[in-house]
Amino acid sequence: MNEVIKAMEERRSIRSFKPDMPPKADIQQIVEAGLYAASARGRQDVITVAVTNKELRDRISDANRKVGGWDEGFDPFYGAPVILIVLADKTQHNYVYDGSLVMGNLMLAAHSVGLGSIWIHRAKEEFEQEEWKRFLAELGIEGEWEGIGHCAVGYPKGEIPPAAPRKEGRVFWAE
Ligand SMILES: Cc1cc2nc3c(=O)[nH]c(=O)nc-3n(C[C@H](O)[C@H](O)[C@H](O)COP(=O)(O)O)c2cc1C
Repeated sequence: MNEVIKAMEERRSIRSFKPDMPPKADIQQIVEAGLYAASARGRQDVITVAVTNKELRDRISDANRKVGGWDEGFDPFYGAPVILIVLADKTQHNYVYDGSLVMGNLMLAAHSVGLGSIWIHRAKEEFEQEEWKRFLAELGIEGEWEGIGHCAVGYPKGEIPPAAPRKEGRVFWAE
């Protein structure tokens, strides 16, 4: 099977990660793949914040946990050491589509370099909070940004779960 299609079919969401930090070169490659996602009118507006600092990663995890309403101690990033936060310019018409496509590229690229990943939601609610708007400002990021998703990345711990059977009846041919 063609390598790209194979990766698309074999990528799975990982919900248990080892704490080990992947090499920066791998993380850079994944982020770079995100930059090559298609974007409406070729605007390339979507940005990615690559978080590898453990203390910061834990703070974001805690913010995410609170948005999700989980008890203290639960890590919604399942132990992943790298969090790639995708944000899109909400003043642009197609920003959610553009941001989602970047997320897809990141997850596929992670799989292709032998890492696990998962889309973790609630970035929208996080980046509506003053603390996290300030965080963006401190990085020099100005503007109206909506959190699209977190791509949590790391080495999978344990077995890769099998894909759920594909639902039937979702393709309609009009030949
Ligand atoms: C928009 C979106 C949001 C998601 N948010 C979460 C999440 O917050 N937590 C989580 O554990 N999984 C999340 N997932 C992962 C899905 O549950 C997962 O993709 C689905 O169960 C199918 O599994 P697969 O990715 O292995 O095919 C999200 C996926 C998408 C596309």
